[in-house]
Amino acid sequence: MPNNFSGKIILVTGASSGIGKATAKHFAEDGARVAIMARTIAKLESLRAECPIPDNVLVIGGDVSVEADCKRCIQAIVAKWGGLDAVIHNAGVSMRGSAEETEVQVFQSLMEVNYYSLVYMYKHSVSSLRDRRGHFVSVSSMMGKYSTQLRAGYTASKHAMVGFMDSVRLELSEAGVHVMTVIPGFVNTDVAQNAFAPSGNRHGVHDQAILAGLPPERVAQDIYNGMKSRKREAVSSHFKERFALFLSKWSPSLLDRLLLKIKVT
Ligand SMILES: NC(=O)c1ccc[n+]([C@@H]2O[C@H](COP(=O)([O-])OP(=O)(O)OC[C@H]3O[C@@H](n4cnc5c(N)ncnc54)[C@H](OP(=O)(O)O)[C@@H]3O)[C@@H](O)[C@H]2O)c1
Repeated sequence: MPNNFSGKIILVTGASSGIGKATAKHFAEDGARVAIMARTIAKLESLRAECPIPDNVLVIGGDVSVEADCKRCIQAIVAKWGGLDAVIHNAGVSMRGSAEETEVQVFQSLMEVNYYSLVYMYKHSVSSLRDRRGHFVSVSSMMGKYSTQLRAGYTASKHAMVGFMDSVRLELSEAGVHVMTVIPGFVNTDVAQNAFAPSGNRHGVHDQAILAGLPPERVAQDIYNGMKSRKREAVSSHFKERFALFLSKWSPSLLDRLLLKIKVT
């Protein structure tokens, strides 16, 4: 059976770790040409070496919260391969701490890394995606659909992502560009360690809930399947988070009561 994305040109941001790394590898193994972006170039180079055809992998160092870096990233892909079939905007950062104790700068950084980066990537890639009737995919979170305590800045940024994606999906409906939001629950990556502490420093500690989360390869598979069938959203989680998502729509006050009973760290 032919591979679905063979020869396609796909950008994955935040590919140096976790979900982005697993997703980039998944598409590379499917025969796609993959551009991988993050700040840590050494990790991107080692991912490139692990891919079946390293020449089909383009490493781009950059910070997604800087518009010029996002523009340069898209330009580098178009210059090398002549176009772009899909953007999977996955780079992101979380937080640990109450809204009261967290510095205002942390809320600003969360919006810059998680939300404004999405706007930059969209603005600089959408004309290429229109040309090829491609895919614009972003990785939000269950925290883009409902909220828990100690994540106010993170949930705000992830809700902003969902709102942006829902709007551009409608704007692009006649252009044939597929717009999909990925909604992961807990996934076993370094996300907790890499999260901002209230001071803005790196939190540096794993969470039990994250350690018990889905393997990132499972989320990569769900992203792949969602793109293949051009789904509106790809929810990727254990049952518990999907049930919370259901409650958030149909009985939000019951969900609040349940969230107050669990220990969020
Ligand atoms: N793990 C979970 O439970 C979970 C659940 C729901 C949603 N998500 C979302 O999934 C996405 C991936 O997270 P993960 O779990 O795989 O965490 P991770 O292992 O910490 O990976 C985060 C990735 O984002 C990149 N990144 C962070 N800030 C960046 C910046 N300013 N510029 C460029 N790249 C940046 C990191 O690379 P560098 O540090 O090298 O730049 C890394 O490649 C995030 O958007 C996260 O919010 C995760």
